Amino acid sequence: MAAALKLGILGSGRGSNFLAIDQAISAGTLEASIKLVASDLNNAPILEAARDRGLATYACPSGQFKTKLEPEIEQALAQTLLAHEVDLVVLAGFMRVVKTPLLEAFPSRIINIHPSLLPDFKGLAAWKQALEAGVQETGCTVHWVDDSLDGGPIIDQARVPVLEGDTPESLHSRIQTAEHTLFPDVLQRMATGKITIPTAE
Ligand code: GRF
Repeated sequence: MAAALKLGILGSGRGSNFLAIDQAISAGTLEASIKLVASDLNNAPILEAARDRGLATYACPSGQFKTKLEPEIEQALAQTLLAHEVDLVVLAGFMRVVKTPLLEAFPSRIINIHPSLLPDFKGLAAWKQALEAGVQETGCTVHWVDDSLDGGPIIDQARVPVLEGDTPESLHSRIQTAEHTLFPDVLQRMATGKITIPTAE
């Protein structure tokens, strides 16, 4: 693997985690470069933010499904990431389940951030699930991506207390603040070899 970790970031939303990663790179606290920012939605704010920063972007056709990409669309995404010489695929709010084309193109080289202390509260709106369950503590998890839903091996987690009077919005906002520290931190540990990334065959 080359000196600086080459990232491909996939997101569907506003891209606050992408921005936190980009800021850590600019600040010199993350030894990585962003080779491509891609989305399943061509009007996603994350793409606009990436373009504003002069980064390469790619929007895949949304296709007929909501929760996954059609195989040929996912294959084209995988090829685009490979063409941009991406080492590690970073899912930062990517709202599609990753299937065989990406998993085979980037074996054990896809990570995701999820807004709960996995294995608790997999799936959508995990902060809302935590509030409804009445837990006193939740958080966020960075994990390797496999073919299970939010089920791949955990890399690291950050804890966030649930406060009296929390709403889904206030809790999600505090979890996101924790994500913005945890994600760049995990990536820097990968960049410096403290967390091992399997090398491509
Ligand atoms: C984050 O809360 C992340 O945990 C979840 O999707 C959200 C993405 O937010 N997977 P953003 O687009 O990075 O702001």
